[in-house]
Amino acid sequence: MNKRLSSLATEVRESVPVRAGALSISQITLTNYRNYDGLRLSPQAGPVVLAGSNGSGKTNLLEAISLLVPGRGLRRCSLSALQNRQTPDPWAVAIELQTDAGLLRIGTGRDNAVNDSEGERRLVHIDGRPMRSQSLLAEHIAMAWITPDMDSLLSEGPSARRKFLDRLACSFDPSHGTRVLAYEKAMRERLRLLREGGADALWLSALENEMAQSAVAIASSRRHLVTRLCAAIAKGDDVFPRAELAVCGAAEDMLETMPALLVEDSLRTAFAASRTADAQHGTCATGAHRSDLRVVHAAKKCPADICSSGEQKALMIALMLAYVRLLSEQRRMKPLFLLDDIAAHLDDMRREALFEEVLALGVQAWFSGTDAKTFASLSCCAQIFSVENGTIA
Ligand SMILES: Nc1ncnc2c1ncn2[C@@H]1O[C@H](COP(=O)(O)OP(=O)(O)OP(=O)(O)O)[C@@H](O)[C@H]1O
Ligand SMILES: [Mg+2]
Repeated sequence: MNKRLSSLATEVRESVPVRAGALSISQITLTNYRNYDGLRLSPQAGPVVLAGSNGSGKTNLLEAISLLVPGRGLRRCSLSALQNRQTPDPWAVAIELQTDAGLLRIGTGRDNAVNDSEGERRLVHIDGRPMRSQSLLAEHIAMAWITPDMDSLLSEGPSARRKFLDRLACSFDPSHGTRVLAYEKAMRERLRLLREGGADALWLSALENEMAQSAVAIASSRRHLVTRLCAAIAKGDDVFPRAELAVCGAAEDMLETMPALLVEDSLRTAFAASRTADAQHGTCATGAHRSDLRVVHAAKKCPADICSSGEQKALMIALMLAYVRLLSEQRRMKPLFLLDDIAAHLDDMRREALFEEVLALGVQAWFSGTDAKTFASLSCCAQIFSVENGTIA
């Protein structure tokens, strides 16, 4: 093990909780969740490694943890996919979370009272009290994750990157998600009216006004996040390539030079002018749903979409490390950090550098991998659990 990793490991081992403000799960319970019938795991505050063969349940466990922040978790699956297929009894995930303010019990699970016709719904409990909305989770817990699926984010179309950026923005500004939903709802309603034809012009204007106002707030929140992420990336070391980030879109571009109120006016005008074309094409030509997160490999001055897959992975790691640094600085809490199958495609030097960076962040990190040996250099400070067919040793 290199010297820095060894001294960081000693620090982690000797300080429980890991660092001031670090969130850590001291117990997790899964019931009827995917390939787990029932699981109770009580890790310590430091890093956790889940090692096991393909299909044993490592990602399932990380996914279960990821459901404890607002959203659909790290796989973005439907709620019905989470139900253990061997039983109709509802799935549930519960954790005991150590925070600076003391122990917090958080749980989520399938709402059994909902009929099939009413769609899917999940319940959220904080310290035994049912919550009206899962968005309240964001006040108590922060989380970041890197998954193999994210490797392709930089080479895909803008939609996945935009959703990714919006998810990151929600951690700093929980109302960002509500604004995105309000924008999309108004946009869908406007398109429906345009397609049906003969819509009331006043009603269309009201929807376009809602879209323009939400779009400006969304764009400004995205721009703010990207500026802060760029500053956090600049503080990273040189092992992972630095990314230059920019968010581009109708509102984002105008906000560069124009005050928000003028941008709103300009969007309202553009929406009104494109009614006929939008009705014909069945889509809205401009707005917050068209923006993109542009990523450039800074040293090579190369757009990320034409970088090699290894370079793209390294860029994403640098970006997520910067995001965790930013979350730790700007919120009262250091987030939980889930790293699914992270070591698989990294060379030895980068893998050790990643472990070093993660230990230095002082967060409770959850690593998964098929081979426990990959995590040998963490063995003195991490708890290594062996996952086997929905059970953990
Ligand atoms: N709803 C479900 N009910 C029962 N089993 C499920 C359900 N959903 C997924 N599984 C099973 O869970 C198993 C474990 O999946 P998981 O993705 O956690 O594996 P993994 O340990 O991460 O494997 P890999 O190393 O290949 O990534 C799979 O075999 C999958 O078929
Ligand atoms: Mg997996």
